[in-house]
Amino acid sequence: MGRGCFITFEGIDGCGKSTQIRYLTSYLEEHGRDHLLLREPGGTVIGEGIRNILLDKKNTGMTAMTELLLFEAARAQIVSEVIIPAVESGKIVICDRFFDSTSAYQGFARNMGSEVVEELNSLATGGFEPDITFLLDISPEEALSRRVARGDEDRIEKLGMEFQEKVREGYLELARNSSRIVKIDGTRSPEDTSAEILACLEGYI
Ligand code: ADP
Ligand code: TYD
Repeated sequence: MGRGCFITFEGIDGCGKSTQIRYLTSYLEEHGRDHLLLREPGGTVIGEGIRNILLDKKNTGMTAMTELLLFEAARAQIVSEVIIPAVESGKIVICDRFFDSTSAYQGFARNMGSEVVEELNSLATGGFEPDITFLLDISPEEALSRRVARGDEDRIEKLGMEFQEKVREGYLELARNSSRIVKIDGTRSPEDTSAEILACLEGYI
């Protein structure tokens, strides 16, 4: 069995990642392709524990540095415990968010500095990177109206529109500087968006 493939989905909160991941996993199921779906932060017992701390609305006193290190700690665990072994065993691994989230949210929007974040991303992953990353780009206004329709907000989603706008800018900057990141117009119907993503994945899946 050859090496599998590692695909990540990124974007501001409510951009449609989960929806697109559902379309992709349905496609893989229909075609009998062995795959594994994960989310960050989380995906391991240790990582899900860290996720609960990170997203808990009661943790109002969390410093930006604590937040950054907790995301990286959860990542170090999932990369070594789950992602690398699965990709090496030939699986298609799909992750809802990965280190580009840290670059956009903590590095850019929280202003912790892109160099520090890149260094921590690299430490946490041991240099392991996605083969391809889809950035679903929509405006914060559109994402908000989708999220309001969905219901409750977590601690980070509560930071508001201006924060989401900065996160979006951070992502667009990352996409401009990386051939790994494919920017997708997320404002169209889920079906059209999915068709574009599947076309980009030819040769990967
Ligand atoms: P995320 O995982 O990025 O937070 P979701 O996939 O959960 O986003 O989508 C957020 C909300 O927007 C959901 O209620 C979903 O049904 C809706 N939604 C997702 N994609 C689209 C789309 N292309 N057009 C309109 N609404 C969408
Ligand atoms: P999640 O429920 O996965 O949000 P969504 O459904 O929008 O993907 O919550 C994850 C939150 O954590 C989300 O607001 C993005 C944020 N986040 C960071 O700030 N940095 C990170 O490194 C990661 C992975 C997520």
